[in-house]
Amino acid sequence: MSRPAVLVARAVFPEVLERLSRHFEVEANPDDSAWSREELLARLAGKSGLFATGSVQVDAALLEACPQLRVVANMAVGYNNLDIPAFNARGVLATNTPEVLTETTADFGFGLMLAAARRMSEAERYLRAGEWKRWRYDTLTGTDVHGATLGILGMGRIGQAIARRGALGFGMKVIYHNRSRLPAEQEAPIGARWVDKATLLAEADHLVLVLPYSPESHHAIGAAELAAMKPTATLTNVARGGIVDDRALIAALREQRIAAAALDVYEGEPAFDPGFLELPNVVLTPHIASATVATRRAMAELAADNLIAALTGGTPPTPVNPEVLARR
Ligand code: DGY
Repeated sequence: MSRPAVLVARAVFPEVLERLSRHFEVEANPDDSAWSREELLARLAGKSGLFATGSVQVDAALLEACPQLRVVANMAVGYNNLDIPAFNARGVLATNTPEVLTETTADFGFGLMLAAARRMSEAERYLRAGEWKRWRYDTLTGTDVHGATLGILGMGRIGQAIARRGALGFGMKVIYHNRSRLPAEQEAPIGARWVDKATLLAEADHLVLVLPYSPESHHAIGAAELAAMKPTATLTNVARGGIVDDRALIAALREQRIAAAALDVYEGEPAFDPGFLELPNVVLTPHIASATVATRRAMAELAADNLIAALTGGTPPTPVNPEVLARR
């Protein structure tokens, strides 16, 4: 019997490619070329599986054009690049990579928040520019993180991991807003308190966004929400671009209606609004919250586990739409 064919749309660890090639005919993209949509469709012809990342859009039209496609293994926990209702309608399995990146992403999110509150990248630019001539009582003074109120919007695994760092490591008071409230036994160890969104915005000294992107969360933080925050507050986004209205945030930062922001994700990334570059009070990183060698390796291996199981009669460990498996 011939082996299934799979497409690996982006560059990935060579050993993961090697592992996939023990099971499949693999077409890869080792140079990480930016394929057009047409090129992606042409390469997907005859492929049963796609190894994707968050930058590969799989929508209803693509699924219709590739009727032989049975599984898309996303090397990301977020899957807003996949049209899940269309997957369900066509019986195509989607998988993601939860858990393996939780602590790494939480480390980075917490670090970004600290960097914004304590003006770390602004301070480095100041030093590198030779502006540090003498000590002054008010040079680059920021806001405290320890003992402050940490607000979390989206209290999933990563939100809880950030909350743990805040409560247990920095003595922060934790408030959160989420569609569903955590069970009391999960709230208690970190003293987390569910609040409505208005209270979260009004009370947080440091607000961190960790919710999934969807039409419902589009511009969850816009001009009105920014106006409701404390003028001394910081905003950190390690979730997805589009949750924040970037233009509204630039205006709020320029007018110092909030103290600072830290962003790892942007509307339209890798493009982003150049207005951010003119602002001293924003820390900017290029979507790297999960980027440690160990975690990226674990994400790639988990995506490979999913692809191999889905196409060789096994049970994929982390399906997004397991209902499709039940129908097979
Ligand atoms: C994820 O896993 O969703 C991260 O954003 C990396 O893409």
